[in-house]
Amino acid sequence: MQFSKGFIRKVADATNLVDLISEHGITLKRAGTNYKGLCPFHAEKTPSFNVNPLRGFFHCFGCNTSGDAIKFLIQYDRLSFSEAIEELSKRAGIPLEIESGSSRRANPDEDKGLRCLREAAAFYCEKLASPEGNFAVKYLGQRMVPENMWEQFQLGVSPDEWQGALNHLQQNKISVPDLLRTGLVKLSEKSGRHYDTFRGRLMFPIRDLRGRCIGFGARAIKSEDKPKYLNSPETSYYQKSQVLYGLYEGLSSIRKLRRLIFVEGYLDVIRLHENGFTDSVAPCGTALTPEHLKIARKYANTVVLLFDGDSAGKNAALRHAHLLLPHALESYIITLPEGDDPDTFLLKHGKTGFEELLERKVPALDYLVQQTIRKYPDSIQGRMQGLEELLPTLNEISDPKRRQISLMAIGERMKISADILAKELKRKANKNLFNKDKNVTLNRLSNNPNISQDEQWLLQSLLRKGELWPLVREHLYPEEFQTPQFKQLFAKLLQLPDAAFQAFDPLKLEQSDPELFQSVMLLLAEEIPSHDFGLSLKRIKERNLEINFQESILSSNSNEERAQAGLKRRKEEEKLKKIKQIFDNILTL
Ligand code: UTP
Ligand code: MN
Repeated sequence: MQFSKGFIRKVADATNLVDLISEHGITLKRAGTNYKGLCPFHAEKTPSFNVNPLRGFFHCFGCNTSGDAIKFLIQYDRLSFSEAIEELSKRAGIPLEIESGSSRRANPDEDKGLRCLREAAAFYCEKLASPEGNFAVKYLGQRMVPENMWEQFQLGVSPDEWQGALNHLQQNKISVPDLLRTGLVKLSEKSGRHYDTFRGRLMFPIRDLRGRCIGFGARAIKSEDKPKYLNSPETSYYQKSQVLYGLYEGLSSIRKLRRLIFVEGYLDVIRLHENGFTDSVAPCGTALTPEHLKIARKYANTVVLLFDGDSAGKNAALRHAHLLLPHALESYIITLPEGDDPDTFLLKHGKTGFEELLERKVPALDYLVQQTIRKYPDSIQGRMQGLEELLPTLNEISDPKRRQISLMAIGERMKISADILAKELKRKANKNLFNKDKNVTLNRLSNNPNISQDEQWLLQSLLRKGELWPLVREHLYPEEFQTPQFKQLFAKLLQLPDAAFQAFDPLKLEQSDPELFQSVMLLLAEEIPSHDFGLSLKRIKERNLEINFQESILSSNSNEERAQAGLKRRKEEEKLKKIKQIFDNILTL
């Protein structure tokens, strides 16, 4: 989305930075005209984080992070630029002004779909309040779901008839194609007639972060109705790997706590919220994916995953511990007593019971090691087998410092020396790199957790803005890419002359380099969010700086070497500022 400079300024001006930062759980104390607190961007014991509410600026004298409200949200909540603007405008109550000629075309199908779902959600709610909905009210009573929770989660019921929603929504001028697209209605091939997908079911509207209904989970009420849950299909606005049930409802407390409790079911989420654990979320009828964890990272530093106590639950817990480890999240696993899910556990043991359970949470890394060791005999051979199973996961940790710390923790728990571990890891990493490099054609973009978003954006805007090419050649090298496919792609693009980018015609590549052609087309096919090219470039370079710095710190043997590394880093940072400026100037010309 594209916003005018005026609008961005208006939104920033309407934001009280002190309030915004305080709402994120950071305590600020007044010091003259400024405010001071502990920096949220680095660990410190004495406050060096300064906020100037008049100028709307923050600066940390410890780690040199600085910026305005937008930058704060980008850095702290890990929002994109436009998400940050949207968030701030919502907070300030200023309606969004999207510039015409925006890169994202308005999508009429999307608008119609959302309207259709909104009307449907209201219809299901009405039904729950009407005598027709009595069977659902009774069911909610049996399940001990109190009325305030129906409201909070806008629960509803679909009438137990074939065309209840269809008729109602058609009367509201919603077309059958829209109904079909949202999955609310289906076509019977036999009779050629349309009928409601959800009949006689308890309806859980799934809401996006703006509170818009984007789909439903629908639970059978009659025990003979199968399957137990029916779910809305995916659409452009409902991507299941991107949505967490309960996130919208719990957002304000999640932002404060910076914690998320992951459970499996809709009713588990509701039960937890009811008991005050409003930071509970669940994926919607799918397994947890790395994409979900990326979202979690935006809002939380800590995640707790709850699993059933049966053997299926324990297997799932182990799989998820592997999934969690590579993410920079403090992550914990809890397994419930056998036979319980979070809902039944809370009904039996109440809030305090659940709090006690939370206290017994096991760090995901410990869980991983414990459960892995358990599978093999307690011998050197057995431990090496266990290690073999853990190494691929360790290799997924991209931050060298975190990888090193996890490695040491694993070594300690498995009674294997750090030296042996490091060697094994290196051996494995080399093998993996080799394997990965064999297949460098890009075949998938969205939802691919192995690619760097900034690198993708950068390439996407480069391919669209040929005029940047001569400058980029000068300031960016293939080695700076982390994603192997992008690294290779960029190296190949560098071999083309500047002139090729003035009027870039990817079709010309089809014959000469089919692989390059395919990757380029994939990048061009996707709409890119309007974004700051210079910012992506800066973030890629900053990331590399950080990695290099961490690596030199890890391998340094003296304070002097460490000081040198710090000095080098600061110099590089200065250079980086200049490079960013060059690109900013070009783009504003
Ligand atoms: P469960 O079978 O554990 O159900 O499925 P539950 O959430 O405890 O529901 P209740 O308590 O029996 O009402 C967990 C989650 O898996 C998905 C749903 O998201 C559900 O909440 N699921 C389950 C489906 O999508 N389809 C199914 O048929 C079953
Ligand atoms: Mn349940």
